[in-house]
Amino acid sequence: MTLLPLLLAAYLLGSIPFAIVSSRLFGLADPRKYGSGNPGATNVLRSGNKAAALLTLIGDCAKGWLAVWASARLGFDATDAALAGLAAFLGHVFSIFLRFNGGKGVATALGVLAGINGWVALSALLVWLAVAFTTRYSSAAALSAAIVTPAAGFLLLGAQPAVAVLALIAALLIWRHASNIRKLLNGTEGKIGGSKA
Ligand code: G3P
Repeated sequence: MTLLPLLLAAYLLGSIPFAIVSSRLFGLADPRKYGSGNPGATNVLRSGNKAAALLTLIGDCAKGWLAVWASARLGFDATDAALAGLAAFLGHVFSIFLRFNGGKGVATALGVLAGINGWVALSALLVWLAVAFTTRYSSAAALSAAIVTPAAGFLLLGAQPAVAVLALIAALLIWRHASNIRKLLNGTEGKIGGSKA
């Protein structure tokens, strides 16, 4: 397989919107129609169904990891595997199944990180958990992890192309949180497990 079909396959994999798949499986409303409107685990949790939120989290995370892991198994080098992770992330954010709309990419980015390097993923996860537990804001946790991740990648992996890919994913993730940043600043951001309204 050459790089282009790999990236296309990773994009299609990333396009699977697990928030919508799991909401349908559990008979829940479309997450684009309540809460933040984001098809992601945090918003599915606002439905009150923890199992559906967990399935969303696992599915969105797994597709990012799988894109990177499968690339390496197919013999692609670390840079190409990281690019496949980026393609999966882009699939989540601009899903072909959602008319090129999608989520904010947090769980998928974590999966991509886990595929690239477990220690970088762990450092991002620890930052996410620390901020989430202290503030109860999923978005603040994701933004903090996104800021720290490129630096952690550079420290742990050195100056390699995969780290530039991580930095690009982090920048896109921050951009996707523009509405959350506005709400955090004006005090209207919803907390983890908050209401659907
Ligand atoms: O994972 C997305 C999270 O960072 C924000 O989600 O629904 O509060 O916009 P939400």
